[in-house]
Amino acid sequence: IGQPTKLVSPIKPDVVLTVIEKSKQLAAWTAVDHHVKPEHRVIGIGSGSTVPYVVERIVQLGAEANQLRVFIPTGFQSKELIVSSGLNLGDVDQFPTIDVTLDGADEVDHELNCIKGGGACHLREKVLAEAANTFILVADYRKNVKYLGTNFTPGVPIEVVPFAYAKVLQNLHHILGSPKASLRMAVHKAGPVVSDNGNFIIDAPFDLEKMKTPYTIMTQIKMLTGVVEVGVFCNMAQAAYFGNEDGSVTIR
Ligand code: 5RP
Repeated sequence: IGQPTKLVSPIKPDVVLTVIEKSKQLAAWTAVDHHVKPEHRVIGIGSGSTVPYVVERIVQLGAEANQLRVFIPTGFQSKELIVSSGLNLGDVDQFPTIDVTLDGADEVDHELNCIKGGGACHLREKVLAEAANTFILVADYRKNVKYLGTNFTPGVPIEVVPFAYAKVLQNLHHILGSPKASLRMAVHKAGPVVSDNGNFIIDAPFDLEKMKTPYTIMTQIKMLTGVVEVGVFCNMAQAAYFGNEDGSVTIR
């Protein structure tokens, strides 16, 4: 897993993709082929390392088709990606209804609930998921799980206002039973990670039994004062695409 193979990107022939990267690309390209329709004018672009393959495939649809479209980012990274790919940039306040949003995920269960926020973008990602007529997840095979929390061990990402982070942590520890919940720190622990909205991120691991009821966990966390958004998405995605090691794609 993760070892370089002879899989070469047709877009960037000098780039040799690892099996995992190839899986991400397969999922992304298949999802674009199935869900970006010629009549679509407003497209949401998520965050993470799988989404660049979504944009790669959209660019392949051609300048003529894409000049009629506007692309809405979920954060700084996807904004840069849209601009550097020569696509039209828009904002959700101009386009509160989106034809289709394509986004990555940290884990997806068999009912299409997912954990997002590994990149601290889940607030804007949830807004774009909700604004979309169709919300599609793209990921490599490691994210395809029966129950959330199986492989993604950092826990549920929670965006909090900086003023409230210590109180939210205390409540997560003592009331919601996540004793290992912690503030996400930047590389080298130079300070807390700050989201695109100027907020802090807490990562809260819960035991697997609790994660079997993601809607309950999500609403309990969201009720804590100071919490802005929870990285558990329930009943939002219409489909999830997982690229597999053998070159196949699993569609849920
Ligand atoms: C960012 C996200 C990402 O979509 C999620 O972390 C998946 O990223 P990747 O495609 O790199 O695995 O939720 O907040």
